[in-house]
Amino acid sequence: MNTIERDNTYVAHAYGRFPISIVDGHGSILVDENGKEYIDFGSGIGVNIFGVNDEVWKMAVIDQIEKVQHTSNLYYTEPCTKLAELLCEKTGMKKVFFSNSGAEANECAIKAARRYAFQKYGDGHSTIITLKNSFHGRTITTLAATGQEHYHEEFTPFTEGFVYAEANNIEDVKRLAKENKCIAVMVEIIQGEGGVCPLTEEFVKAVREFTEENDMLMIVDEVQTGNGRSGMLYSYMNYDVMPDIVSTAKGIGGGLPLGATMLGEKVKDIFTPGSHGSTFGGNPVSTAGAVSIIERIDDKLLAEVREKSVYIFNELGKADGVEEVTGMGLMIGIKCKKPAGDVLKTCMDNGLLVLTAKDKVRLLPALNIDFDVLKKGIDILKKAIAE
Ligand SMILES: Cc1ncc(COP(=O)(O)O)c(C=O)c1O
Repeated sequence: MNTIERDNTYVAHAYGRFPISIVDGHGSILVDENGKEYIDFGSGIGVNIFGVNDEVWKMAVIDQIEKVQHTSNLYYTEPCTKLAELLCEKTGMKKVFFSNSGAEANECAIKAARRYAFQKYGDGHSTIITLKNSFHGRTITTLAATGQEHYHEEFTPFTEGFVYAEANNIEDVKRLAKENKCIAVMVEIIQGEGGVCPLTEEFVKAVREFTEENDMLMIVDEVQTGNGRSGMLYSYMNYDVMPDIVSTAKGIGGGLPLGATMLGEKVKDIFTPGSHGSTFGGNPVSTAGAVSIIERIDDKLLAEVREKSVYIFNELGKADGVEEVTGMGLMIGIKCKKPAGDVLKTCMDNGLLVLTAKDKVRLLPALNIDFDVLKKGIDILKKAIAE
């Protein structure tokens, strides 16, 4: 059996995989087992923000593997400390809890909010407002936080204590807060899995104002939008607000599993020894790689992300067969006249890998994608949309 046949036989069918087995690559080019090259506009769903085979990240990881690969969280290690310091310096958040994925980073955010409210207001103050059309992960609690019914089917019962407001409707947030003992509002600044739908600046600012006035926490899920993806280090920075809790994953690890939950002033000391934990969280290899990623997301790179974004919006905005282009930075959704799945398939046949989100084609290319490669990919995409 080849890889595809073996996978179909032995790996649980949770994914609808495409019939491509990736064996190699460099930068934004992936190579399959037959030697066919693809331009990668997905970067492992927003993970490989410096592409594949990134020399700097690779050397940081190898250097740490050659020393100590894991110690447990009973001892201190330098990479974990360094990464936490870097994140706090760059965001103004105060402390960081490390885990291994986006769902876990959100679990931690939810636990932090619940503990804060419990300690301050007692039992029963636990409801978190999330948004309709949101996506926060696949664990039972983060699925409960996810405001999309179809993810909930056949997995009941869920963790209690989530209510869902209309996105961009502050009156709905206020109504839910009045009807329940709400402790927090949790949002994605751009709803990724929901179809690359940015929240309005007005709404995000109103959520911040309302939560501040009512001693509710504002949690921002930056799992997909974070780490430079939106053209700012974290997407909330586009709207000039300061959340209480920020969760992230995907791009921060550069390809190794890593989640981070950044805790602001109000909740910085919420966790005490034994109250939360993770065997692998903050693993020295993952965090050594992550330091090399976060250090390179500087003003120059972010300016480049914004420049590439303008190029993509301009090109696709006027392209045949395109109805709407949404998103921010290098997180872009394209509503086409044709079904998104058909566009994806034509692109794949022509050597370009794109993603979909709901009824849109979704692009999450590496932040450092070469302009030439980007242009070539956009040409393939425009033809696929128009054909
Ligand atoms: C906004 C958001 N939150 C959470 C998650 C879950 O992350 P993970 O798959 O790493 O658990 C995702 C994954 O797509 C996401 O986009």
